[in-house]
Amino acid sequence: MRGRLRILTLLLLTMLPLSNGWSYPWDQDMVDQPSEKPQESVAPPGPGSVPTHGGETVPLPMNDEQRDAMHEAAAAIESPVSATEESITRGKYFYEINCLVCHGAQGRGDGPVGLKFVTKAPVDLNDIYTQEQALGQLFFTLTRGKGKMPFYRDALNPSERWDVINYVKSEFGHNE
Ligand code: HEC
Repeated sequence: MRGRLRILTLLLLTMLPLSNGWSYPWDQDMVDQPSEKPQESVAPPGPGSVPTHGGETVPLPMNDEQRDAMHEAAAAIESPVSATEESITRGKYFYEINCLVCHGAQGRGDGPVGLKFVTKAPVDLNDIYTQEQALGQLFFTLTRGKGKMPFYRDALNPSERWDVINYVKSEFGHNE
């Protein structure tokens, strides 16, 4: 009987550290493993990732005058994405996701959200005003936005923006 009691006491004593929150050397926590933890990944960013700094070469205007000057100068930016059928198809896809809500399926500025604008409506993309702009100027607008028009440098990477521009130029402005 005594012997049993002694063994039981010994067992309880051995278990004491556990109940106190201590642990045995072999009692390693699951987090202490060589795998990478969240936010620690050294994997290269996936395709289409947007850099948090750098990478954007289109200047940031501070006021309307600067915006107009930069918009003018942006005519010199050349498109690296030619208007192939693939690019236009991709552009249509991105246009329908990002622009249609305001500019409408036919580019008339009559999308469901566009109709709600009271001060300045989204422009009709068929108009000469947009169609005569250089590709680089449209790229500037998509990158930096204008007035109530949001910028797209986060939602669309540069080549996707050029795809949208190829679509806007090839799809609209022919049926005046
Ligand atoms: C939330 C509504 C909204 C969305 C979404 C939107 N636009 Fe606009 N867009 C506007 C408004 C409003 C203007 C007029 C801005 C002004 O002149 O103040 C405008 C103007 C423009 C212009 C003419 C800019 C200039 O030179 O004056 C172009 C080109 C244009 N949008 C293209 C696009 C494209 C392409 C997309 C999608 C990537 C898009 N917009 C998404 C509201 C929108």
